Amino acid sequence: MDRLPRAVAAAVSDQGVPSRYSTPVAVDRRRLEEARSTAVETIDSNLEGYCDRFPTPSSTEYRYGTVPNTNGWTQGFWTGLCWLAYEITGTERFRRSAQAQLETFDRRLESGAIATHDLGFLYTLSAVAGHQLTGTPAYRSTALSAANLLCDRFLPAPGMIQAWDSMDDPRNPDNQGRMIADTMMNLPLLYWASETTGNDDYQRIADTHARTNAATIVRADGSTFHTFDFDVASGEPLMGGTHQGHATESCWSRGQAWQLYGYAIAAAHTGQEAYTTLACKLANYYLDALPEDHVPHWDFDAPAEPGIRDSSAAAIAVCGLDTLSRVLALASEQQTAYRNAALATLDSLAASYTTPATSNGLLTDGAYNTPEDDYDECTIWGDYFFVEGLCRATKTHRPFWY
Ligand code: GLY
Repeated sequence: MDRLPRAVAAAVSDQGVPSRYSTPVAVDRRRLEEARSTAVETIDSNLEGYCDRFPTPSSTEYRYGTVPNTNGWTQGFWTGLCWLAYEITGTERFRRSAQAQLETFDRRLESGAIATHDLGFLYTLSAVAGHQLTGTPAYRSTALSAANLLCDRFLPAPGMIQAWDSMDDPRNPDNQGRMIADTMMNLPLLYWASETTGNDDYQRIADTHARTNAATIVRADGSTFHTFDFDVASGEPLMGGTHQGHATESCWSRGQAWQLYGYAIAAAHTGQEAYTTLACKLANYYLDALPEDHVPHWDFDAPAEPGIRDSSAAAIAVCGLDTLSRVLALASEQQTAYRNAALATLDSLAASYTTPATSNGLLTDGAYNTPEDDYDECTIWGDYFFVEGLCRATKTHRPFWY
């Protein structure tokens, strides 16, 4: 890949260690095992109701509704949960359910209702995961079709993947040339496509986007903008902004978590130390901003009251920190600190953020869109990353992302 900008390309060791996590935090391993079992039971009890339909992105009073797979970005998380439950238990009904859902992902590709960067979220956890677990060749073809569509969203002048809307939609001029922090988590589909085909073009696009993101979305102090706009024709960087955060200059904690996990995955795929370094910098900003119980406020710069959290950002960060600890040198200070931070966060989620029995979700306190009053609920991606984190902590698990 091309080098990351000088500002973010210091050595891993220059990034230091968050001192709070340099010694292990007490973690109740049995609680993590129990949380994993409860999660599998909840997924099981949802199987029949969802069949080839999907949970809404967030719940109402801790109950998810139902949506088809015709638009939106979150359907893959439910399929991913079914694949995780299949991996954990080996039980065929989880596999059959995920396979039935896969047909809707094919239909969605055929329908063309896919003008979004979220192809990675949608197709990594459905088709790539299905291919990894079952070896079914059709799932590889589905995932490659999605990767090709994601490449079509690449704008060469700025060197980035446009997040939202079709590439020339005059009804939404603001979205033309807009990249967002979340896209880093859609790049794993491109890294996978390069690896499975031997065609470097996919990785070249992913690396170019990652470099542009590092130079614009990531600020000098390791915090992040949510969005960044470019002039499509000249490629000139215009300005940072936010869509779901508190303010343009604030740091939306879920965006920070998407970035942290995204660069850790890029490091795992490519072995590039510059990605590891940047992931450490993003992780340190995130960890330094955490409250006592390791679960972030929805935006690190939001007013202290009413103290709204985002458990989904915490669950994403668990997986990002664990990945980072796996790409760092064994037994290094940083490896130990990020592993401790991942476990402390996971334990806090399992202890204090799980739903009451009336819920069909897993985690309370997810904040989908706080400015639009959607918070304090389950989120389907928060639930997915919680179970991925529990799998990482309690069993041998090969993540679907790398
Ligand atoms: N990717 C959209 C979100 O994090 O809300």
